[in-house]
Amino acid sequence: MAVMPTILIPSLIFVLAATTVAIFVFLPPAVAAGEIATTGAAGDAVGTYLVVVCRANGPKENGEKLREWHASLLASLLNTSTGTVLEEARSPEGGQLVYSYQHVVSGFAARLTVPEVDALRKLHWCVDAIPDVNYRLRTTYTPTLLGLNKPQTGMWAAARSMGEGVIVGVLDNGIDPRHASYGDEGMSPPPAKWRGRCEFGGAPCNKKLIGGRSLTPGEHGMHTSSTAVGTFVGDVQMFRTKVGTASGMAPRAHLAFYEVCFEDTCPSSKQLIAIEQGAFMDSVDVISISAGDDTQKPFYQDLTAVGSFSAVTSGVFVSTTAGNQGPYEGTVTNCAPWVLTVAASTMTRRVVSRVRLGNGLVIQGEAGKRYRALKSAPLIYVQGVFENGSLNAVDVRGKIVFCDRSEEATLRGEKVRAAGGVGIIFFNDASEGGATTFGGNVSIAAARVNQADGEKIMSYINSTTNPTASLHFTGVTLDPSYQPAIAIYSSRGPCNMSNLGVIKPDITGPGTNIIAAVPGAGGGNGSSPTRTFGLMSGTSMAAPHLSGIAAVLKRARPGWSPSAIKSAMMTTADVTHPDGTPITDEITGKPAGHLLMGSGIVNPTKALDPGLLYDLSGLDYIPYICGLGYNDTFVNEIIAQPLRNVSCATVSKIEGKDLNYPSFLVTLTAAAPVVEVRRTVTNVGEAVSAYTAEVVAPPGVAVEVVSPRLEFGSVNQKMDFRVRFSRVGAAPNGGTAEGSLRWVSGKYSVRSPILVLDGTQNLV
Ligand SMILES: *[C@@H]1O[C@H](CO)[C@@H](O)[C@H](O)[C@H]1NC(C)=O
Ligand SMILES: *[C@@H]1O[C@H](CO)[C@@H](O)[C@H](O)[C@H]1NC(C)=O
Ligand SMILES: *[C@@H]1O[C@H](CO)[C@@H](O)[C@H](O)[C@H]1NC(C)=O
Ligand SMILES: *[C@@H]1O[C@H](CO)[C@@H](O)[C@H](O)[C@H]1NC(C)=O
Ligand SMILES: *[C@@H]1O[C@H](CO)[C@@H](O)[C@H](O)[C@H]1NC(C)=O
Ligand SMILES: *[C@@H]1O[C@H](CO)[C@@H](O)[C@H](O)[C@H]1NC(C)=O
Ligand SMILES: *[C@@H]1O[C@H](CO)[C@@H](O)[C@H](O)[C@H]1NC(C)=O
Ligand SMILES: *[C@@H]1O[C@H](CO)[C@@H](O)[C@H](O)[C@H]1NC(C)=O
Repeated sequence: MAVMPTILIPSLIFVLAATTVAIFVFLPPAVAAGEIATTGAAGDAVGTYLVVVCRANGPKENGEKLREWHASLLASLLNTSTGTVLEEARSPEGGQLVYSYQHVVSGFAARLTVPEVDALRKLHWCVDAIPDVNYRLRTTYTPTLLGLNKPQTGMWAAARSMGEGVIVGVLDNGIDPRHASYGDEGMSPPPAKWRGRCEFGGAPCNKKLIGGRSLTPGEHGMHTSSTAVGTFVGDVQMFRTKVGTASGMAPRAHLAFYEVCFEDTCPSSKQLIAIEQGAFMDSVDVISISAGDDTQKPFYQDLTAVGSFSAVTSGVFVSTTAGNQGPYEGTVTNCAPWVLTVAASTMTRRVVSRVRLGNGLVIQGEAGKRYRALKSAPLIYVQGVFENGSLNAVDVRGKIVFCDRSEEATLRGEKVRAAGGVGIIFFNDASEGGATTFGGNVSIAAARVNQADGEKIMSYINSTTNPTASLHFTGVTLDPSYQPAIAIYSSRGPCNMSNLGVIKPDITGPGTNIIAAVPGAGGGNGSSPTRTFGLMSGTSMAAPHLSGIAAVLKRARPGWSPSAIKSAMMTTADVTHPDGTPITDEITGKPAGHLLMGSGIVNPTKALDPGLLYDLSGLDYIPYICGLGYNDTFVNEIIAQPLRNVSCATVSKIEGKDLNYPSFLVTLTAAAPVVEVRRTVTNVGEAVSAYTAEVVAPPGVAVEVVSPRLEFGSVNQKMDFRVRFSRVGAAPNGGTAEGSLRWVSGKYSVRSPILVLDGTQNLV
């Protein structure tokens, strides 16, 4: 099939095609706590808990023995026999023992009443009982249109790989295995190590979709999994225009799909089970998670962090989302340094709704779906975010309503329609600035315009007695003048932990107006594959881009650890566009800081050949976790290697700042104005090479690199260096100051962002 080479942004390329059909997918409201069933008295309410147990007295080996031991512990709590617990667990209704974990944590999942949990907490073998958390899928805007992806050539050509032989495990809400994106033409058979099952309601697995489990198609799960590893699907149309070929980032990687959500609600216990099965039983190489809750927790209570730790230290790469709580500061989640935390950017793709004013001025806004073109109609300004009834005072019949801000778009659009209005234009205030992605389901002609354009429309309305406008949906376009910016919804740092030592989010991938597979007509019975594509936005869409890129890197650089892959991605990420202008914040248009974008926007081709790596082994995290100040119980809960018992008293702890990570986060206060950090870099570039340090010092901070020149004589050689940060003059403005350190050789530039805090942040 024809693969059209196209350049959108240098790193990540999707090309769009177009048809008319607008499919809208709005995820239904959250199902109330998935596992809670109430039976009579309040004390009888049953919830699912992770029961963390002390392994010391348990069996040394994993497997059935361990499961029986877990059952015996639960039996002792319930005054019943081990046999009864196991038998009930096997029954169709399932008993109180939900799952016996073998690898990711020492413990089991159980359904328990509140009095049972109270009793449990008093038992010596119970270390912790953590209630299930419902993670939510991280999509903010869900307009969905037909369209297609287009493969990028740079990285695949340089890597001579599209992820062949690599298994990507996606944890999400469901897929329809019959979609064309899961076709296996051109795929090699699954690697011999694959041991997973195939449970797709009778649909067969193939060389692309090699296994896992899903019984219900899910828009979100199909979108994320096809973004990561979807195969080539040619001749996709969108808005009546044929545009080309769609694919994921690693179109030759294998997919293992794990259904862990009901609609958009994903119990943490299900996610933890899927991490264990994917990483330890089925041998996946990359895990992609696009769900989370919106809180920052200590790592021993954060079950994504707990589960990922064992997976990452066993060599599995884990990609997660920053969250969709932007633009507010301090909202980033998935702060653990062993996972990749992905922020979202916009891209050149826009869903254009064209506004032509009576004076001839044309403004490009965005819409959520296709509407019938609206010829000239009177334009009227209705102030405020009008709610029920407040339109009654205004006659909007036959008019286009021009109104403040973009929230409640669906509600307000319906209000205007019901009152006889024919169109609605939302315009941003400063809090929304340049963000125009449309987030509602409006059935009349609609557009959302940015702040500057809104002001132009406002002055036009003020300037004439009979203002008019026309609205025309021109569909999905690629507008090269619209450069990627950090999306308004993408959660921002910092993490709420004083000794973390690393900047989160780590990196940015495209998340707005992403086109990928969604469920659709055709295929349901296997007669022909579904070829429906849809458009979604969120950090949920950004993370699977990085998962796919990690799969290609894994194939191309088989010796690299998950930390090495992460380092390669982060130190080569872009902080400027090809024309040299900085990557900006979508709202303000001003340069985006590292708390928004992490190290920058991923540049996959450069990540293949980073020059130097900041590597970490699984063991390197233990002194770090001990250094976080957690007690031994909690440290072992995270480490969860059943037969290892870490006593932090015997470990030489390190402070967060000294973790060998490709970003720098230090706190300088009047009391402690100088901080020194250590790093070790590994040469993966030219054997004989010399690097010099180039520093952009954060304002108010002096940065000295001790040994500012590194000379290597061989590949894989490691060299240490130290960086000393000193406060000079006043505290950094607003409590934070940013800079960077680059190691530069003739060929390479290895960049790490620097963030300096002044100690006034409310960290724990
Ligand atoms: C969008 O709104 C229309 C009515 O205006 C409705 O028919 C349609 O089902 C809605 N779409 C979704 C996905 O809710
Ligand atoms: C770990 O070692 C400590 C003493 O260092 C001991 O008290 C504890 O029981 C041990 N735990 C396990 C799980 O072996
Ligand atoms: C189990 O039995 C003991 C004594 O037989 C009793 O004290 C305890 O309350 C019982 N626990 C439960 C959960 O029924
Ligand atoms: C608008 O109406 C909805 C339901 O009709 C109601 O839930 C909401 O509270 C109302 N808002 C205001 C501001 O009255
Ligand atoms: C237009 O008029 C409104 C009052 O009707 C005023 O609040 C606003 O500032 C004016 N805007 C411009 C751009 O002239
Ligand atoms: C950070 O933690 C402190 C102490 O627990 C808490 O008061 C604060 O609200 C937290 N901030 C965030 C953004 O979570
Ligand atoms: C599958 O669906 C198509 C179209 O809906 C229908 O014609 C065909 O008979 C179905 N095949 C089976 C095996 O059910
Ligand atoms: C760690 O702290 C928890 C909660 O305070 C406590 O239950 C546990 O016993 C502590 N563990 C150790 C080894 O002190």
